[in-house]
Amino acid sequence: MCGIVGAVSNQNIVDILVEGLQRLEYRGYDSCGLAVVGSTEGLQRSRTTARVQELLQNTLQYSGLRGIAHTRWATHGKPNTDNAHPHFSGNLIGVVHNGIIENFETLRTELQQKGYVFTSQTDTEVIAHLIYDVYSKMKSRDLTEAVRGVLPKLHGAYAIAVLASDSPDLLVGARVGSPLVVAYGDQQNFLASDALAVANHAKKMTYLEEGDIVRLTKDQVDIFNLAGQIVHRPIKDVPELAASVELGPYQHFMQKEIFEQPFALANTVGDIETITPAIFGANTQDWLDIKDVLILACGTSYYSACVAKYWIEALAGIRTQVEIASEYRYRTSVPNPNALVVVVSQSGETADTLAALRHAQSLGHTKTLAICNVATSAMMRETIWKFQTKAGTEIGVASTKAFTTQLVGLYFLALTLAKKENKLNTKQEKTEIEHLRHLPSALNAVLALEPQIIAWSEQFAKFKNAIFLGRGMHYPIALEGALKLKEISYIHAEAYPAGELKHGPLALIDKDMPVVTVAPNDELLEKLKSNMQEVQARSGQLYVFADVDANIQTSEGIHVIRLPENYGNLSPLLHVVPLQLLAYHTALRLGTDVDKPRNLAKSVTVE
Ligand code: M6R
Repeated sequence: MCGIVGAVSNQNIVDILVEGLQRLEYRGYDSCGLAVVGSTEGLQRSRTTARVQELLQNTLQYSGLRGIAHTRWATHGKPNTDNAHPHFSGNLIGVVHNGIIENFETLRTELQQKGYVFTSQTDTEVIAHLIYDVYSKMKSRDLTEAVRGVLPKLHGAYAIAVLASDSPDLLVGARVGSPLVVAYGDQQNFLASDALAVANHAKKMTYLEEGDIVRLTKDQVDIFNLAGQIVHRPIKDVPELAASVELGPYQHFMQKEIFEQPFALANTVGDIETITPAIFGANTQDWLDIKDVLILACGTSYYSACVAKYWIEALAGIRTQVEIASEYRYRTSVPNPNALVVVVSQSGETADTLAALRHAQSLGHTKTLAICNVATSAMMRETIWKFQTKAGTEIGVASTKAFTTQLVGLYFLALTLAKKENKLNTKQEKTEIEHLRHLPSALNAVLALEPQIIAWSEQFAKFKNAIFLGRGMHYPIALEGALKLKEISYIHAEAYPAGELKHGPLALIDKDMPVVTVAPNDELLEKLKSNMQEVQARSGQLYVFADVDANIQTSEGIHVIRLPENYGNLSPLLHVVPLQLLAYHTALRLGTDVDKPRNLAKSVTVE
């Protein structure tokens, strides 16, 4: 997704801007650019549809004490150089922008009628011209005031960084709906959509709040509200993230993150010994009247929530509803104020999930919980209770370790609710904790299957389509496996609950259709075996990940890889891993950009 870096300093900031963009690259982008105010040339700009590395080459000669930079993930207009940020108005105003200006067409028409000429198809360019229109006419030019005057005209979500070629030593930022932070350095200050961008140059930072406008010089930062009054926001430490963004011995971040899962799970289980609402920062009393759970999420996080529905209903007997956040936020639903609303998210900034949370709150839901990987994210700040997954920074666009650690958080939730309902006795509690503690070594044994999966990936790279099957709590695992394969290999993949085959998808089966089957040894195994026979009878090729004791043999049309251990309720955490590896190695063979798949972004902070 788009990334912003801005800097004002007593030294040349080009390197810092480029380094900042490099740190945001993992979020996904299709073009990038930067602009600095040089000592004599006014605004200097370079933009490219290539990688940030090329931007670095193009800007070697640039020099400036303040500047703005951006990675763009196209929303309005194609990913080409003209649409890349920064956008200028004259050689006076430069703007970078994350988010979407919903009324940009109306604003654009109004500006064209005033004689402004547009050089891009973006919504961002209207912001640059609007600011110019106010700023250039001011008797005594004040960029902060000009930006403040323009903001009420913008409908939608945005974070912006603005500079003017004639305002010495000044950078202005503003946010509504999209994240923006200020970071404080030594005789230099920064704006960024994520503190990670400038983590090497600043120790302290502030999260700007909705409607904040910020004015930065190298020595001073002032934050204002929309009424122009100074406001004070908490100053926090910049998270220490530098080490986790190194690739180390791995070829891709996705590979690194798949193999980090045992460690991430161990960290997420941490030293929890007792099942109690305190795991989520709640009092026992707070949770007594919870009789329903509503989980809101998108993408991979939605699939972890789908697994949780099976867990919570089976273990705690509490009705659980899981909704795709982008649907929930716009549909008319029937609120139940006693329901626990859970948002699940790696980033904690996904626009649809955040909006769904706020929508739930607007309907009167007060019991809110975030299960999230980023402690400082908006979702963690805006919910009453929190569980931080300890996956560490996830760089690969295809989510892996975030998923399995979310499952740990959600399993703790299921156990906590079960205990509240008197459905978890002390002995069972102890056994569950032991199972959770043993997860990392069970997962290491699954990772050791990689060579067999690599052999399968050679065949998968030749397929154009794939079907994934699962049943019960492994149906969401099939969904997640299909999502991983399509995201990074671009092979069309769909998942079905195996019992649904005969209701339609069976028509797709022939000798060219691989059917990946998640086959744990659970109470649905015999049913699943019948579904597999339906595939075999139509000459489909089954690729089965079976528990060691599932008694499924390799034979004509059936390829089997055995998972070393049947892991009961926690089995989804193990069964997802071979699917991650299958997607990864298939993509590797096809030569796709594994960590930055086409058209996708790491953190979807626009609608
Ligand atoms: O940060 P979030 O967990 O809220 O992100 C939700 C989805 O955008 C994300 O899981 C997406 O589906 C991943 N690319 C899946 O690999």
